[in-house]
Amino acid sequence: MSTSDHDRLLIIDFGSQVTQLIARRLRELKVYCEIHPFNHVDDAFLTKFAPKAVIFSGGPASVFTDGAPMPPKSVFELGVPILGICYGQQVMMQCLGGKVERGHGTAEFGRAYVTPEARKLALLQGWFEADREQVWMSHGDHVSEIAPGFEVYGTSPNAPFAITADTERDFYAVQFHPEVHHTPNGAKLYENFVRLAGFTGDWTMGAYREEAIKRIRDQVGSGRVICALSGGVDSSVAAVLIHEAIGDQLTCVYVDHGLMRKGESAQVVGMFREHYNLPLIHADESELFLGKLEGVSDPETKRKIIGGLFIDVFERHAQEMGGADFLAQGTLYPDVIESVSFSGGPSVTIKSHHNVGGLPDRMNMQLVEPLRELFKDEVRALGRELGLPESFIGRHPFPGPGLAIRCPGEITRAKLDILREADAVYIDQIRKHGLYDEIWQAFVAILPVRTVGVMGDGRTYDYACALRAVTSVDGMTADYYPFSHEFLGETATRIINEVPGINRVTYDITSKPPGTIEWE
Ligand code: XMP
Repeated sequence: MSTSDHDRLLIIDFGSQVTQLIARRLRELKVYCEIHPFNHVDDAFLTKFAPKAVIFSGGPASVFTDGAPMPPKSVFELGVPILGICYGQQVMMQCLGGKVERGHGTAEFGRAYVTPEARKLALLQGWFEADREQVWMSHGDHVSEIAPGFEVYGTSPNAPFAITADTERDFYAVQFHPEVHHTPNGAKLYENFVRLAGFTGDWTMGAYREEAIKRIRDQVGSGRVICALSGGVDSSVAAVLIHEAIGDQLTCVYVDHGLMRKGESAQVVGMFREHYNLPLIHADESELFLGKLEGVSDPETKRKIIGGLFIDVFERHAQEMGGADFLAQGTLYPDVIESVSFSGGPSVTIKSHHNVGGLPDRMNMQLVEPLRELFKDEVRALGRELGLPESFIGRHPFPGPGLAIRCPGEITRAKLDILREADAVYIDQIRKHGLYDEIWQAFVAILPVRTVGVMGDGRTYDYACALRAVTSVDGMTADYYPFSHEFLGETATRIINEVPGINRVTYDITSKPPGTIEWE
């Protein structure tokens, strides 16, 4: 649990796919919140967490199942506002004396319209300005009788208890999901809920920066911290923040595996040395990496070689500088949320993500992870707060194995050079057309085939390449970006004219799934 001294809201997770979105909506309102699985929340937890308000998430279970997920009864005795969503609504009714009915073939999924009752409710301020509100329903069971003390404030054709509340106790329960986009006015409900719970919106990046610095100092003391800097947003923001906290007790190591994009290493190293005066080891290990990758074309083998070498190299440089007590990582909140899994019972899957997996144990170091409470866009906001240039903050993600996984088949220096040039032209085109920020990720992959072409009067026999550009929210699913034909044509012409070694350009229109974003 965090040591944040902000007003805190607790989200009890019953396993909904969209619980994280509740946290997003609240963070947008500058409310500090944490998600915890229902089976971690007991009386002692509640006392320690001391929430100012509680939200019950939705979830796939039925209150009729044996051992159905339930919150501890004491949550209703805290005297703080509670909002139950979907399954959270059913839990609330079940616990407080209402009735839930099994959905025998009456499940309701998708868009629905809620209309108001005559009585007014503070939670609904700004709602029903038109006579109905679109909401997103996704439930099998439904509430058939509300608990004593509750009244109905909104109904839909299939959900007579779409919005209910016990205003005496500040308990609110809705059948739909206000956190998803398909409930267009949903953010307003959260805004009203936190306002009536007395939150002041004190979760700002300025405040966070001060607190994070204090926490880093408390944790590290006079110890030494080492950070693997990749040039990506997360590790860059973490490094700058830690440097602000402990100055030269931090050393960063930038492992250059020879698989970076055109000019990237100079740009990363230059920025951190010149603008931040940050102690930085530029480990140019391209000979080592490219040597070990020679003749390797299997994607998994490539990844394993790169991952293993990365750890070796990092460890060697760490030893050369005299070792360190702590390893800094840019781990984000989505990586540490413990989400509830209902496959085979209410077990807990902990998603842990180590950018430099295996290192902390092998080198006997503790972790410093100052971004563990933040979502990606909050990390970007913190980066701005710390003065990182916009060109850095808005960068598309770049995978750890770098260009190796954009060069299917055998990797050669010659192919990498061609790929770097083609990628630079493509990104230049995207920037010139003002499309960079609309795209999650864009890159060129050089294909392991050569094709015949004609340029001027001569025959060419050069590589084909594929352009990739996708939109995505989190990289888990993705759609190809719908460039205009003019853009694609112009880009193909530029690449073929400006990049010797490529004579054919294709555009990859595969979504994810079934494809992946990267080619390997
Ligand atoms: P895929 O290709 O799996 O990629 O659809 C999803 C996202 O993850 C990035 N990616 C990686 N990032 N190390 C990383 O740090 C890796 O090994 C790695 N592999 C893929 C990819 O660029 C995309 O953003």
